[in-house]
Amino acid sequence: MHEWKTTPEVTTEKLRQAFDYCLKKIDENLEAFTYLFPSEASQDLFYYPIENTGWTASFWTGMLWLAYEMTGDEKYRKVAEIQLQNFRRRIDEKISLDTHDLGFLYSLSCVAAYKLTGNDEAKETALAAADVLMKRYREKGAFIQAWGSLTDPDNYRLIIDCLLNLPLLFWASEATGDNRYYTVAETHLKTTLKYIIREDSSTYHTFFFDPETGAPVKGVTHQGFSDTSCWSRGQAWGVYGVPLGYAYTKDKSLLPVYKKLTDYFLSHLPEDGIPYWDLIFTSGSEPRDSSAAAIAICGMLEADKWLDQGDEKKAMYRQAALAMLNTLMDRYTTEGVASNGLLLHAVYHKNGGLGVDECNIWGDYYYMEALVRLLKPWKMYW
Ligand code: GLY
Repeated sequence: MHEWKTTPEVTTEKLRQAFDYCLKKIDENLEAFTYLFPSEASQDLFYYPIENTGWTASFWTGMLWLAYEMTGDEKYRKVAEIQLQNFRRRIDEKISLDTHDLGFLYSLSCVAAYKLTGNDEAKETALAAADVLMKRYREKGAFIQAWGSLTDPDNYRLIIDCLLNLPLLFWASEATGDNRYYTVAETHLKTTLKYIIREDSSTYHTFFFDPETGAPVKGVTHQGFSDTSCWSRGQAWGVYGVPLGYAYTKDKSLLPVYKKLTDYFLSHLPEDGIPYWDLIFTSGSEPRDSSAAAIAICGMLEADKWLDQGDEKKAMYRQAALAMLNTLMDRYTTEGVASNGLLLHAVYHKNGGLGVDECNIWGDYYYMEALVRLLKPWKMYW
């Protein structure tokens, strides 16, 4: 296990160079991904164009907003604004809205646009998305249903990834003054943390409830190695999702939860600090998931804002975040490799055979977000 005792030399110049590489890749991709979006994961390290029907289109739009925010260059804003129309159409025409991922989709596209440019139409679109997301709240069990039809008992479950969808509701509450959004987000957060965290601070990926009674049923994996193992990206969604919940609720009981989840994550990393796709593996030749590292880094940098100066672990988490980011910058980018992505060695769904040892678009986004967080005091899009 790593000790994370020393802070690596991560200079502003190095961060700036890494960010410039992100801009270079965005510039190469801008034309291909103006009206269409990069695929979830690359194939042979190249993203191909897809429509905005899945859960990932906004990561690219979010990268454009980060590029615009950092450079002020209108070319990024122009393409991001073209994509806002697409996000509006998705809501208006009810395209693939049977998902909790509206948070990922509308925070990084429309909320970002509103926060950065005061775009009122984007604000209204994000609020419309929040309203659709609210309909997924299940009274029995007190959670937001992740996937599929609301009448399907086989889909009566939450998943840990949803913690990143809650900021859309917290933001909607602030933007409208309507407390219902806050209540649903906070209730879902509490239900998730109650059932999804095991005794040893690892997590289930998904958790089922009884649709008749709302009673907890069982934890089951979808993308991890097994029901009893800990899917790396799931744990990373927890490492980031909990401090995001704290940012909106200021509920002090969340900070020890963040620490438990992060300690488990950090103590199950291989030598170079970048997780295998499931934390059950700590050595060997299984594929890594660099995207889980990028998500966890953002989580640790967000939590750093909220942990007390006197917290005995505050410095260690920051060192871990910097060390992991340093490794991503040094050894996991596509620099010198034929690819239109940013981060190598990510996994989408190992057992489903999807995007294994490829780039994935959320890994690229969170890598960029981590760089921005260290380059400036960043007002988050979440
Ligand atoms: N939220 C889906 C995934 O992490 O693959």
